Amino acid sequence: MAVPEQQMQQEPVVVADGLTIHFDLRGGDTVKAVDGVSFQIRPGETFGIIGESGSGKTTVGRALVGLLKPTGGRILYAGQDVSALSSSQYRQLRRNYQIIFQDPHAALNPRMTILQSVQEPMEIMRDGNPASRRQTARDALERAGLPPEIGARYPHELSGGQKQRVNIARALTVNPRFIVCDEVVAALDVSVRGAILNLFADLQKEFGLTYAFITHDISVVAHISNRVGVMYLGRLMELGPTGPVTEQPLHPYTRALLSAEPLPLPSEMRDQARRIRLTGEIPSPVSPPSGCRFRTRCPSAQAVCAEHVPEWRELRPDHWVACHFSTEEGPPDAS
Ligand SMILES: Nc1ncnc2c1ncn2[C@@H]1O[C@H](COP(=O)(O)OP(=O)(O)OP(=O)(O)O)[C@@H](O)[C@H]1O
Ligand code: SF4
Ligand SMILES: [Mg+2]
Repeated sequence: MAVPEQQMQQEPVVVADGLTIHFDLRGGDTVKAVDGVSFQIRPGETFGIIGESGSGKTTVGRALVGLLKPTGGRILYAGQDVSALSSSQYRQLRRNYQIIFQDPHAALNPRMTILQSVQEPMEIMRDGNPASRRQTARDALERAGLPPEIGARYPHELSGGQKQRVNIARALTVNPRFIVCDEVVAALDVSVRGAILNLFADLQKEFGLTYAFITHDISVVAHISNRVGVMYLGRLMELGPTGPVTEQPLHPYTRALLSAEPLPLPSEMRDQARRIRLTGEIPSPVSPPSGCRFRTRCPSAQAVCAEHVPEWRELRPDHWVACHFSTEEGPPDAS
């Protein structure tokens, strides 16, 4: 899916500029969950974020919508540094940036009816009046593909797919511009995943939404994203258009990740990918490896990889990688 040229030239909806998020633990250790991550998300695109568990995807997603304050670096909304905004300017902009999480149940208050839950964000933002909020909530439920009578029910009376539709309706009520979708179909039955992904795609077209789509599932990312960023241990390893990243990756880590996925790779790529396996656990983000963070699991690592952090290089148009030895042909042992 290509984003039209015109949209590419517009101001990015959100920018992470050297985004760093560290968590101080009680014993004195620091978790370097995200360390110097930079990317721009363009209007109308779906930006996929992939990587193993613990690579920092959710932390980035939460920071993008203001739920976490960066330890370092900046977040820009429509070109404006969020930390430089007054609190009223920030509140105005922040409403355009929403997040939907993996567990559709956890986000809903079990003691509220569905209609009350869907109205809640508007109440917090003091939008409209009770009657207009009710109407907006009903319209949003309908747009999310739910029948009106569902508004009177409680969360435990709904299926997982229906609850996720309610969460989508909740996000829609405040007219967002950008939504972080964090593993939004991972907890759902396989049979309803396709319908929910289609709903996201339809809403994007109708409302001109921009998404950051966080997922473990490369087939989901390949299906829905325009571009994809690959994270490992708090850093971005590769970033580029989805087709090239998932079919002809540049980074050894991306290739190893793809080797775990039987689909949707072309057969020749699968054979190549099969030779590389991700072995061992992802190291601790409290004391990540020096130089290239992937070096302890990389089949191509050399001495320099422990000494120097690889530069971020654009080896193909709009396709970036952080590896000392990748060439435009691919990762080191494939070039
Ligand atoms: N509030 C916190 N306090 C301390 N450490 C945290 C906190 N939140 C996240 N972390 C740590 O930061 C790292 C990144 O976590 P994050 O949830 O962003 O990973 P993820 O890529 O979303 O993983 P998953 O695919 O399992 O959801 C992990 O090591 C995690 O344990
Ligand atoms: S920089 Fe070195 S360790 Fe890192 S991915 Fe490239 S070859 Fe592997
Ligand atoms: Mg996560």
